[in-house]
Parts: sequence; C-alpha cells; structure tokens
Amino acid sequence: MVKFLEGEKICLRPLIESDFEDTFRWLNDREVTKYMRWNLIPQTLKKIREFADNFKGIFLAIVDEKNDKHIGNITLDIDWVSKKAELGILIGEKQGCGYGSEAIKLLMNFAFNDLKLHKLYCGSCNPAYNRIMEKLGWAREGTQKDHYFTEGEYKDINLWGLINE
Ligand SMILES: CC(C)(COP(=O)(O)OP(=O)(O)OC[C@H]1O[C@@H](n2cnc3c(N)ncnc32)[C@H](O)[C@@H]1OP(=O)(O)O)[C@@H](O)C(=O)NCCC(=O)NCCS
Repeated sequence: MVKFLEGEKICLRPLIESDFEDTFRWLNDREVTKYMRWNLIPQTLKKIREFADNFKGIFLAIVDEKNDKHIGNITLDIDWVSKKAELGILIGEKQGCGYGSEAIKLLMNFAFNDLKLHKLYCGSCNPAYNRIMEKLGWAREGTQKDHYFTEGEYKDINLWGLINE
C-alpha cells in the first residue's frame, strides 16, 4: 500500500478506486453526516468522484494501520496566495476511537512543516470536532449563529484557526 503520511494507529494515503464506494456509503448515511452540510442531500457516486477529481488541494484517505481498512477521508483546501487552508474530515467508520484526532494532527504537521502554510482554519457544529480543535490548541475565532440545520434544529458553527508560529 502507498502511504503518504504515517501515524501510530492510522496512515494517510492517496485515494484508490474502492474509496469512492466507501465514501458514497458514508455520505448517504444520515447518522455519519448529521453535522455536515451534505446531511439530508443524497449524493451520487458520480458527484463524489467529480468532487475528488476536481479538488485542487490535498485529498487523502484515512486508513486503519491494523487491517488496512479505509475508515475516512481528510482534505486541505489550499489558498496558495494567502498560504492558508481549510481542513475537512470525515471518519465514516469507528468514530470516537481517536482516529480523527490523529489524522488531523498528522495533516496539520504536514501543512506547517512541509507545505509551510501560514494558517489552517475550519468551522463545525460537531461537538467531537470542536473538542479536537480545543485539544490541539486551535484558537476559537468566532461563532456563526444558527448557521446549520440538522437534527430538527438550527445549530451554531464554531470557527477555528491556527497560525504557524
Ligand atoms: C468529528 C470527527 C472527525 C471526530 O473524529 P473521531 O475519530 O470520531 O474523534 P476522536 O475519537 O479522535 O476524538 C473525539 C473527541 O471528542 C470527544 N467527544 C465525542 N463526542 C463528544 C460530544 N458530544 N461532546 C463533547 N466531546 C465529545 C471525545 O471524548 C474525544 O475527546 P477526548 O480525546 O478528549 O476524549 C468524526 O467523528 C467525523 O468525521 N464525524 C463526521 C463528519 C464530521 O462531522 N466532520 C467534521 C465537521 S465538518
């Protein structure tokens, strides 16, 4: 298997053909996507492929090192002029096992140490995601009130940023 970045429990690798079917399954699972903007919007395999193919930044599969199983995806949408990138992540299998935290840490280090980006940012209403940002020392940059409708109610989005200092 081609490994792009290697951690302890997981590694990050470029996408392969079977990853699209996994992603198709996860993005149409309303429990998995309940904090994502795709929730309640069915996704076709074609649309997912096009999104990945047209993605200009970094798009990697998250793989469990124990059994080489694809468990999620992680992205960096890069603005090369301002040297900043928006982080996106989806753990489709085995949420709550520390895989998300490790994947984010790995890609953060790569973004700052190898790509020499100046800033990373993201926003979410997912309590687990917000906890990870706090744990990894990202700064809370603001709140978008009632920005996202999920589980029958409007939720606030926490905005997070981290400067490479
Ligand atoms: C959000 C996501 C990336 C987290 O990854 P994960 O592997 O499930 O999370 P981890 O196990 O690494 O860590 C989760 C942390 O949040 C905490 N947590 C989980 N649920 C929580 C909740 N409801 N409230 C507060 N903290 C919570 C966990 O205890 C853990 O913190 P700890 O390490 O201090 O114990 C993953 O669940 C996911 O991809 N979800 C679906 C897509 C999504 O919502 N993406 C992000 C928003 S766009």
